[in-house]
Amino acid sequence: MKDVRLDFPLLRTHQDLIYLDSAATSLKPQIVLDAMNRYYTDYGANIHRGLYAISEEASSEYEETRQVVADFINAPSSQEIIFTRNATESVNLITYALGREMVDPGDQIVTTVIEHHANFVPWQQLAFQHDAEFKVIDCLENGDLDIYDETGRIDLSGIITTKTRFCALTLVSNVLGTVQPVKEIIKAIRAINPKTLILVDAAQAVPHMPVDVQDLDCDFLALSSHKMCGPTGVGVLWGRNEILAHMPPFLFGGAMIREVRIEETTYDESPHRFEAGTPDIAGVIGLKAAVRYLQGVGMQTLYKHEQELGATLLKQLQEAFGTKIRILGADSRLPRIGLAAFELEGCHPHDVAALLDEENIAVRAGNHCAMPLHARLKANATTRASLYLYTTHDDITKLVTALHKVHTRLCPSIKK
Ligand SMILES: Cc1ncc(COP(=O)(O)O)c(C=O)c1O
Repeated sequence: MKDVRLDFPLLRTHQDLIYLDSAATSLKPQIVLDAMNRYYTDYGANIHRGLYAISEEASSEYEETRQVVADFINAPSSQEIIFTRNATESVNLITYALGREMVDPGDQIVTTVIEHHANFVPWQQLAFQHDAEFKVIDCLENGDLDIYDETGRIDLSGIITTKTRFCALTLVSNVLGTVQPVKEIIKAIRAINPKTLILVDAAQAVPHMPVDVQDLDCDFLALSSHKMCGPTGVGVLWGRNEILAHMPPFLFGGAMIREVRIEETTYDESPHRFEAGTPDIAGVIGLKAAVRYLQGVGMQTLYKHEQELGATLLKQLQEAFGTKIRILGADSRLPRIGLAAFELEGCHPHDVAALLDEENIAVRAGNHCAMPLHARLKANATTRASLYLYTTHDDITKLVTALHKVHTRLCPSIKK
């Protein structure tokens, strides 16, 4: 894993930087930049409509990404891969295109309190606009969802009903770092209401662990390229073909139509029906390079590396600060990715982040687009360190040492 650092040019141009903000966006390996550059320098034409060589090359490179992404998440068909701008747009595509058609007054839309706003606000607004009930699954003090009975089994009776149209779940929380038992939750939902459509937010999962849409048995899955070594500006929505085939369009315009007459417009098949206008061609080609890069590393290897690093991060923080630190989700028994969002006694997270920056350490402070979760756990804001394949044990040690300095500076009177 150590050698992968050489693949990331930003780590060469900022040799002293300790980048611990990969949950916000990951660094990009050179081969992703090269792939995008090659598109612009060698065959940078628009796709699908050009009957000349470089346009055909661009179309084929773009379309090939669908198959590469489909294989990566084990989708049955590349036709089920829709390119969007980001995970947020992938969720909105479903709430706009399908939600508006399907949700009636009195129906229920279910999500959880641990969601990123991207998988919370679109559903909340859909529910509000259609007089549907917006049900939010609570969590416990350790951040685990409050879905277990006394024997530890998942029990969704009272949450999922015959009126539940949609359920939106995150696979990995961007604040807790925990991997949710989404496969088991989906099983429990299907046992109560097999017609509930289930969207999995995998924005923090796909970059860090193997994800298999068929194994999860979800209906839709959203991800963002920029969190998985790919460029910004590209997201993916995976959906089951049988649903996408009947789903109305989201955005209207060029590239998504079959025939346009003054009286009427007919639409192309999925996935093109959902990709109106010129897409981020270079970005999609960059995403293909990113997926191939991650496959080269091996998702199991990467996940194992992150689990090890994540455990070290938690252990070192807890050993260094004891009761003076509160790491959200640290008491959960669920598996985790390498991420810790924490409160340090007496220190405002923004001050912590600003002082860490003086030590060349990049972390994020705030609510991380998860206000309901912070409110639920009574944390105004947290400092978040998030790791990835290029993070080393040495980075973690340096973070903890720098945090000591920061703590002493901000709270000279608090005894360690
Ligand atoms: C869990 C989760 N879901 C969704 C998103 C939204 O991703 P994007 O901003 O790329 O749409 C994020 C971004 O941080 C996230 O962490």
